[in-house]
Amino acid sequence: MLTTDGPESGSPEVEAGVTVAERRPVATKRISIFGLGYVGAVSLACLARDGHRVTGVDIDPVKLDLIRARKSPILEEGIQELMRDVVDSGRVTVTSDAAQAVRDTEISFVCVGTPSAANGSQDLGALLRLAEQIGTALKSKREFHTIVIRSTVMPGTLESKVQPILEKYSGKRSGVDFGLAFQPEFLREGSSIRDYDHPPYTIVGGNCEAAVAAVRDVFQHLECRFLVTSIRVAEALKMSCNAFHALKITFANEIGRIAQSLDIDSHEVMRLVCADTRLNISPAYLKPGFAFGGSCLPKDLRALTQIARQGDLDVPMLSSLLASNRVHIDHAVDMILELGRPRVGMLGLSFKTGTDDLRESPLVMVAKRLIGEGCELRIFDPEVHLSRLLGANRSYIDANIPHLGSLLCADLASMIEPSEVILVGLQQPALDAGLQMRVRPDQYVIDLVNLPNRDLLRCRYQGVCW
Ligand SMILES: NC(=O)c1ccc[n+]([C@@H]2O[C@H](COP(=O)([O-])OP(=O)(O)OC[C@H]3O[C@@H](n4cnc5c(N)ncnc54)[C@H](O)[C@@H]3O)[C@@H](O)[C@H]2O)c1
Repeated sequence: MLTTDGPESGSPEVEAGVTVAERRPVATKRISIFGLGYVGAVSLACLARDGHRVTGVDIDPVKLDLIRARKSPILEEGIQELMRDVVDSGRVTVTSDAAQAVRDTEISFVCVGTPSAANGSQDLGALLRLAEQIGTALKSKREFHTIVIRSTVMPGTLESKVQPILEKYSGKRSGVDFGLAFQPEFLREGSSIRDYDHPPYTIVGGNCEAAVAAVRDVFQHLECRFLVTSIRVAEALKMSCNAFHALKITFANEIGRIAQSLDIDSHEVMRLVCADTRLNISPAYLKPGFAFGGSCLPKDLRALTQIARQGDLDVPMLSSLLASNRVHIDHAVDMILELGRPRVGMLGLSFKTGTDDLRESPLVMVAKRLIGEGCELRIFDPEVHLSRLLGANRSYIDANIPHLGSLLCADLASMIEPSEVILVGLQQPALDAGLQMRVRPDQYVIDLVNLPNRDLLRCRYQGVCW
């Protein structure tokens, strides 16, 4: 479920720098902000600038006094001037009284901290204590109120932790008597006002239309797409974005260290990596699916990490990629073995659709392991014909599955018919249609390729990581 409206982020208007200060929301609202740290203070100042009446709430009296004195509790480019102006406008009040803030406003944005606990999990103490206070305040409030969590939380937190507390303390029903939404915040410290005004997109997951509409009213004037999804996806998105940023930084730094050890200009290397917007900086390869393989990626990763070792360099992230890939292969094998059905059919064997290259194909690894576990295997891959396999390709399969000839089926039907489990590692329209026609409700299909028409399959379906 993902709906969208508004222009693409990166559209010419955004690039031309149309300032959001000139684009006011259609209707002004009464808004409360809980937590006046980096996210909350910037939100308070920008929302008041946009014409809303904003009540800031914090448990730290020093922050409240600073704002009353027209000063920002955080240091950010432009925030001191903006805070002074919005406090002078009379549209900002601050308080430590959470109940009063809920009563006086229509929508609450929650921006309290969610720091690491000692064991690495998220410390949700501040958020959950606040949920109790907001829930108690909602009990005596007659008007509909929307609570929007902007703190970064683990997927599932709103539905399994925040919502039950709000319902318990208010005695009201989520999605009926009050709205609950998650709207990830994408601002970066140091450029937070600019980022607030030019997010990559506004994305919200809500428990009802009214909650989403309340967020849309406040943010739809921003020059970016307004995307609506489920609460859990919105929570997972924010976590994924931060993990992806960390991954990118670590990748560039590990490549940098290797390049430095070889006396190569690391900035030039990464500048050119980023100049490829078709395969590198693009959605290519960024879809959940099956393990990588083939004649290039595994061997070149091995060589790269070997060069690093020769230079006494530690590159833990690059060194972990093959291990992580093996875990993904094991995961697929485990899914099959857990079904306890030994007659397994495989659609596909080569390392990707449209080739007969079997070298380091993860599907060959799967086949090898299933044979070792005693499965009765049948394989159909329209591109793979034993008599045509030559050179390194032939040697690879002879070393790994020497009796491949006895496992290969001549067509889809003879692979599917006797199998209890069918592993789909190949996607082509004609094969998809064949699968739809032939699979039976008593058979399991394990999908490695995200089959586009899987809803049409009459079988027991499982995706490898979806
Ligand atoms: N800092 C960033 O750049 C950034 C960007 C995106 C998202 N986030 C996320 O936003 C959340 C807030 O981050 P931050 O950096 O603004 O945190 P912060 O620590 O700077 O501010 C949190 C504020 O919440 C206040 N607070 C705690 N309990 C409260 C309560 N019961 N009622 C009212 N106020 C209370 C604290 O006193 C503090 O002022 C975190 O979940 C963070 O992961 C941060």
